Amino acid sequence: MYQFEDIYHNKVMLSFKDHPYSKEPKHVWVICKFEDQWLLTSHKNRGLEFPGGKVEIGESAEQAAAREVKEETGGHVSKLHYIGQYKVEGREKIIIKNVYFALIDKVEKQSTYFETNGPVLLKQLPANIRKDHRFSFIMKDSVLTYSMQKIMESNSF
Ligand code: GTP
Repeated sequence: MYQFEDIYHNKVMLSFKDHPYSKEPKHVWVICKFEDQWLLTSHKNRGLEFPGGKVEIGESAEQAAAREVKEETGGHVSKLHYIGQYKVEGREKIIIKNVYFALIDKVEKQSTYFETNGPVLLKQLPANIRKDHRFSFIMKDSVLTYSMQKIMESNSF
């Protein structure tokens, strides 16, 4: 288990165990790879981030992950791997989010990208994301760093 603060000084706990904080998390975050590029979305307020969002009523977390990727990027998830889960103790509420790694086999143009401006493909994530104003706050804490490490270490994806 890792513990650190996000950029707003909220306490964050991250674990790569099997659903340590909730069996039914209400949020998902999906690190997406399309061919040899990372697939992100450009959120209208927050900036560049991997897609994600809230699990809807009647939906599984995996279904929410595939739906959010489609809605925010047009990407079609061909393989979805659970990576871990994190918990943010915010000022007003606690949120628990599943982190996934998704392989995307096609990116199709959508008529709407909801609260985002749609897909952004990057060959590499910049080394200094935390100081890069183009990126969303959710890309700026150690959830991204540790999750990317975990994905890189895995031989099975
Ligand atoms: P609505 O309920 O739709 O209004 O959403 P919201 O704006 O309240 O956001 P949400 O419930 O997704 O998150 C509430 C708070 O949790 C945010 O304001 C953030 O402070 C925090 N939060 C949400 N997602 C993340 C995340 O991925 N990383 C970090 N560090 N904090 C997050």
